[in-house]
Order: sequence, then structure tokens, then C-alpha cells
Amino acid sequence: MQLIHRISEMREWIKTERYKGNKIGLVPTMGYLHEGHLSLVEKARKQNQAVVMSIFVNPLQFGPQEDYQSYPRDLQKDCDSAEKAGVDVVFNPSVEEMYLRYPPYTTVCIEEITKYLCGKSRPGHFQGVATVVSKLFNIVQPDRAYFGQKDYQQLIVIKTLVEDLNIPVAIEGVPIKREKDGLAVSSRNVYLSGEEREQAVCLYEALMLCQDLYMRGERGREKLIQAMKERILQESKATIDYVEVCDTRTLVPVSKINTPAVAALAVKIGNTRLIDNVILGGDKNAEEDA
Ligand code: PAF
Repeated sequence: MQLIHRISEMREWIKTERYKGNKIGLVPTMGYLHEGHLSLVEKARKQNQAVVMSIFVNPLQFGPQEDYQSYPRDLQKDCDSAEKAGVDVVFNPSVEEMYLRYPPYTTVCIEEITKYLCGKSRPGHFQGVATVVSKLFNIVQPDRAYFGQKDYQQLIVIKTLVEDLNIPVAIEGVPIKREKDGLAVSSRNVYLSGEEREQAVCLYEALMLCQDLYMRGERGREKLIQAMKERILQESKATIDYVEVCDTRTLVPVSKINTPAVAALAVKIGNTRLIDNVILGGDKNAEEDA
């Protein structure tokens, strides 16, 4: 496996792969790899002859009070895991390499679907994500790119980005990986103390309650949200950022579920902000097709 830091070198490598006729899969990450990331690589490996993983903690998507400085980083361990998983190249540019000017003069701004959920509580976040992902697409020019469904809104944002800007990359969503008790796997889980880790299961359990109510015929947003909030607020360290039920495509909150919906939440456990979601209704593939 190769570790590349320079954009020019990345482009040279891509040129050679293209010359060989190989399809290229890109797995964009911020590193500190876990099982979720490795499941993206697994899918990328199956669908492409060459797999590039980017590892770049993107300052542009963090708010001033957020955890950019403290975001966990371990490049050596990441390279070992990436190699074992079958990644061909880890692309790890510096901030200076990635951003000629910082903050950049040109950014990518996505309207409407960023008004809700994380877009509402993290202003500028998706602009930062869309900008760096556009840059990665321009640098790597992959055939396919892989994103986890845990960041559901991010997946919709990226799908919208490639549609709106006619970027010739197929976007592949990959189901959420969970710990044994149901907690969604995330790089930020390392921030949790023992007690917080125990309490963090409330996100998953709230979503399961919601899904159960939905299966038993409940379609009203208020009831579903109330049940989720009640479960979360049983935990002393939990503070709710949002608990919402939205249309899977537009992300507009729905008052009654008639079309496939996503129950999504963001909860702080102590100082750690965690997100999770579950798809309600439609066929199972609503998630895959998101
Ligand atoms: O999901 C992430 O890790 C990041 O938001 C991404 C897509 C790599 C962009 O920095």
C-alpha cells in the first residue's frame, strides 16, 4: 500500500490506474478508522479494481467551538488497518496542500436539505463537507465513492452535490455498523468515559422504540419524537440537540408518515455529540438508495 501526501503524486497514480483500465473507488475519511470505515472499503473493493482512501481532518467542516484540534488522529495505525482491508493508496494531504488559501475563496454551498438536522445545529458544516468532497472528487476522479449511512444527511448532501453539479461519480451508501449493544460505531466514541459509554446506548434504544411504534402502526411525528425523547432523557449525561422524523429525500420534517421517513437524532453524552438514525417504512432499500 502506498501513502501519498501530494496532490500531484495522487494524480500521477490515478493516471496509471486509468491507463490500465482500472475502476477507482474512493473512501473519504477523517481517519481514526473503525469497523464502519472498513465496511466502506469492503464494498469499494468488491466494486472496483483500485481503492483510494483519503484521510484528512477537514478544518472547514468544524465550527469554532467544535473538536477540530482534539479530533482523534493516528495515521500509522490507520495505514496498517487500511492496508489489511485492501486499500491501495492512502491519500493524506496536509491542510496547506489541500487549501492553497485558508479559508478558501471558493466553497460549495448546498441549500434546502441543509436547513434541517445537523445542518441547522452546525452552521457551515455541510458547506465544509461539500467543498472538501468536491476537491477530493476533482483530485481522485473516482468512478464510485463510499459514505456511511450513519451520517445520513451527509449522504443526501453528497448525492445532491453530484446531481446538481453533474459530477460523474456514483455515490454508494453503506449500512451503519454497530457495537454489540447497538451504539453506532464512530471515531468520536473514544471520547466517552465508562459511564458515558453505557449511557450512549440510549440513542439506539430510542430509535428502536420509534421503529417499534412505527411497526405497530404509529404514524404521528409528535408521538414518535416524544417516545424517543423520553428514552434519551432517562440518562443523566444526555442532552438532546435534535430528535426528528423527516422525509428520506427532502429531509423536511413530516407531521404524518406517508412516504419513507428517517428518524434521526443528535445527542450530547457529556461533551460528546453523537448522531444516529433509522429508516421507517418503504422497502429496506430506501436506506441503500438514499
Ligand atoms: O464523514 C466524514 O468522515 C467526513 O465528513 C468526510 C466525508 C470525509 C469529509 O471530510
